[in-house]
Amino acid sequence: MITTRTIPIDDGPQPTVLRAHCAGTGPLALLLHGYPLDHRMWLDTLRSPLARRRTLCALDQRGHGESPFAGDAVHTMERLADDAAAVIRSLTDDPVDVVGLSMGGYVAFALWARHPQLVRSLVLSNTRAGADGHQARAGRDMAVATVLDKGRAAIADAMLPKLLAPDADAMVRARVRTMIEGTPVETIVADLRGLKDRADRVAMLGSITVPTLCVVGELDPITPVAEADVMANGIAGALRVVVPGAAHMTPMEQPAAFAAALGSFWR
Ligand code: MLT
Repeated sequence: MITTRTIPIDDGPQPTVLRAHCAGTGPLALLLHGYPLDHRMWLDTLRSPLARRRTLCALDQRGHGESPFAGDAVHTMERLADDAAAVIRSLTDDPVDVVGLSMGGYVAFALWARHPQLVRSLVLSNTRAGADGHQARAGRDMAVATVLDKGRAAIADAMLPKLLAPDADAMVRARVRTMIEGTPVETIVADLRGLKDRADRVAMLGSITVPTLCVVGELDPITPVAEADVMANGIAGALRVVVPGAAHMTPMEQPAAFAAALGSFWR
């Protein structure tokens, strides 16, 4: 059973609430979704055998899923990390296993930078440590213009071929489109501004002292296998798993392989 928790956030200019969707038993694992998605990208993970060993909590980050947009012009990774820290503190007194996909991985890096005492282990899935280069930053500006001009369907049209492998299941494709088209335009714009200006974390990799697993889809064109190599080579003792048949949405495209990788890591 999935239970939704509502967590007040009152350390910013606008008090707001966040919703976390939890299933399972045991120590807490916090699941951080990518852009421009929500907790539903983790539904297969919440229903996996991992729930017998962890209380899996999939957060809706501010403005996503069931968490309201709080009025921020920019969703900095630091703000999202402080949100995650408040959620962890409200749910447990212990450090937690953090699982972040793509933007969720950037948030996980910021969480480690700002609140390392809350982190017991890291799963960095389909993400990268580096900041946006010149071309990627220009791409963020173009995406802002696209969503303002043409709406969310245009963002979904542009992203779906990169998020999913060419032969991805039609239902998975529909689920991803539903999430993107349901994310408020103001959230998408605030996310894009935060993604564009996020910090480069490559120099921080050597400071990560918790057990870390880097997961990547073999076909991921957004954060390719080489990005997982950078992270795994930079973090002492980090493990790396390449999931066959998956592109960027590994937990949705290959849920059993994703859960198996985390199951071995959390043993
Ligand atoms: C994501 O999946 O969160 C985004 O693709 C991340 C990004 O665009 O850098």
